[in-house]
Amino acid sequence: ARYKVGYIVGSLAAASINRALSRALIRLAPPELEFVEIPIRDLPLYSYDYDADFPAPARALKQAIASVDAVLFVTPEYNRSIPGALKNAIDWASRPWGDNSFARKPSAVIGASPGKIGTAIAQQSLRSVLGYCNSPQMNAPEAYIQFRPGLISETGEVGDAGTEQFLRKFMAEFHGFVAQVMTALPPAGT
Ligand code: FNR
Repeated sequence: ARYKVGYIVGSLAAASINRALSRALIRLAPPELEFVEIPIRDLPLYSYDYDADFPAPARALKQAIASVDAVLFVTPEYNRSIPGALKNAIDWASRPWGDNSFARKPSAVIGASPGKIGTAIAQQSLRSVLGYCNSPQMNAPEAYIQFRPGLISETGEVGDAGTEQFLRKFMAEFHGFVAQVMTALPPAGT
C-alpha cells in the first residue's frame, strides 16, 4: 500500500538546515511513501477564543493533517525545546476540544542542529506533547543529526555515506511503522 505523509518543518528560517534535512528524507524514503508539506508559517498565535470559528490557515492545517496517513516532524531545537511556531501549530491542530487532529495519527520526529546532541532535548519535549495528543509515535530509531557544513545540501543531497544510509533506514522504518499502525488502527469509515 502507498501512504501519504505530511511533513512539518519546525523552522521558519529561509536557510533552515531542517528544511534541507526534510528534502533529504524525501529523497531517501521508500517509494511507498508520498509527501506533502504541512505549512505552519501563516498561523496566528492560538487562543481558545478562536475555537468557535477557526481562521483559514488553521482550518487548512487541520484539513491537511486529516488528509494524510502520518505526520513527520523535522525540527530544530530552540533553547532546549521545540520552536514556538511548531508548538503553536500543534496547539491549533489539537483543538477545538473533541476535534484533536493528532488522535491516532502516526508520527515520527527527527531534527538537526550544529550542537553535539542534535536536537535530542527538543525531540524529547516534542514526544511528550505528541503523547498527550494521542499520536502513536515511532519509538526507534531515534535520529539526532549533528549538522556540519556540507552534510546536507539545500536540495537535500547528503554528503556523507554513513548519514545517508542512516536516513534511508530511518525512512524505511517509518514506512514499516505507518503500515503497522494503519493496519491496527484503520481510520474511521474504512
Ligand atoms: C538555537 N540553536 C540551538 N541549537 C541547539 O542545539 N540547541 C538549542 O537549544 C538551541 N537554541 C537555539 C535558540 C534559538 C532561538 C536559535 C535561533 C537557535 C541553534 C540552532 O540549532 C541553529 O540555529 C539551527 O540552524 C536551527 O535550525 P534551522 O532553523 O536552521 O532548521
